[in-house]
Amino acid sequence: MTHEWTMATRTAGMGANAIREILKVTGQPGMRSLAGGIPAPEAFPMEILRSLTQEAIDRFGSTAFQYGLTEGFGPLREQLVPFLAGKGVVAAPEQVLITTGSQGALSTIAQIMVSPGDVIAVEAPTYLGAISAFNPYEPRYVTIATDDAGVIPESLEEVVRDNPVRFVYLTPTFQNPTGRTLSGARRAAIADILVRYGVLCVEDDPYNDLRYRGEAVPALHALAPDHVVYLGTVSKVFAPGLRVGFAVAPPAIARWMVTAKQGIDLHTSSFNQALTALYLESGALARHLPTIISLYKPRQEAMLAALERHFPPEMRWTRPEGGMFVWAEGPAGLDTVAMYERAVARQVAYVPGGFFYAGVSARDAAAAATMRLNFTMVDEATIEAAIADLGAVVAAALEG
Ligand SMILES: Cc1ncc(COP(=O)(O)O)c(C=O)c1O
Repeated sequence: MTHEWTMATRTAGMGANAIREILKVTGQPGMRSLAGGIPAPEAFPMEILRSLTQEAIDRFGSTAFQYGLTEGFGPLREQLVPFLAGKGVVAAPEQVLITTGSQGALSTIAQIMVSPGDVIAVEAPTYLGAISAFNPYEPRYVTIATDDAGVIPESLEEVVRDNPVRFVYLTPTFQNPTGRTLSGARRAAIADILVRYGVLCVEDDPYNDLRYRGEAVPALHALAPDHVVYLGTVSKVFAPGLRVGFAVAPPAIARWMVTAKQGIDLHTSSFNQALTALYLESGALARHLPTIISLYKPRQEAMLAALERHFPPEMRWTRPEGGMFVWAEGPAGLDTVAMYERAVARQVAYVPGGFFYAGVSARDAAAAATMRLNFTMVDEATIEAAIADLGAVVAAALEG
């Protein structure tokens, strides 16, 4: 007999991840998955990891295996100062907090900022993992409208004027799921709104270094450092399994993040922080990044070219300058959840876009017509064939 365990009331808002059901099929033999959201394993610097492992032991000895400061490993915090400055984030080493991935930071911030019923403003669509991190704290979501250029500043202003927002959660560069990047002008408009309304923004920036074309845009943090918590990670440029992320926050928030983190995990893995410090210090990141980009850039180009060739004219899609995703949108009436089984029958998987809208049913007309396509996990030839088949499925769904 199985016992019915009583869970905390907060689990009511956590919910099973519907997307997990959808993604179950992606491991089937022969499946061409554009549904992934993870880096390609062949992008990991395995040889560098081997030599840095030895070097970390030689350099840091038992310190790399001892309990450490909750704030983070000193040498890593120092190495992150120039790394962050390159993105316009100005911080002294003692202002840089090391987190267990950016995911750890998202959960910590919600823990210290959100009481049940408090309002978090998110983009429509937004990163699902952030919603999962926030949900245990029982927030209410309000959504900010976006267009082809990302968050619409007027919509943000309306949201923060009309709601007691605890914080705004944004991914301004190569957003997950859309790939969109906010222009400098929009960042300035958003920074101005944050300052005028005294609102905090959590700027999640995991994809910044995966730029394939165009010019870098300074972080939002550069424009409103007192109103932005900047989050970064080495997941996309080193290895996600290390779980090393970092945060720069206004002092009062940083203090509470440290207090909360003490209770959550004491600190992020000392050894993984030591490895990351050496990865930055030795210049290995700068040497390895072009290898990652040379893997992803042709895959993204293959996807954009295949969409051009095979998707029906009613479809629109983003042409991101970097990141891991392309976002496709059809006319109202297209239902990418309903279409999913037919795509899977042709051995193509994707994520129906409706899942990325907080507080909206995945079958809501506008949301249901969207889909997220990942290009990092599949080679160019597979992308071409998968998009050709997906294009045929979309065309049939639009006709039917
Ligand atoms: C927007 C966004 N934020 C955060 C994360 C989590 O990153 P990390 O591995 O640093 O926890 C991801 C991972 O896919 C992401 O897409």
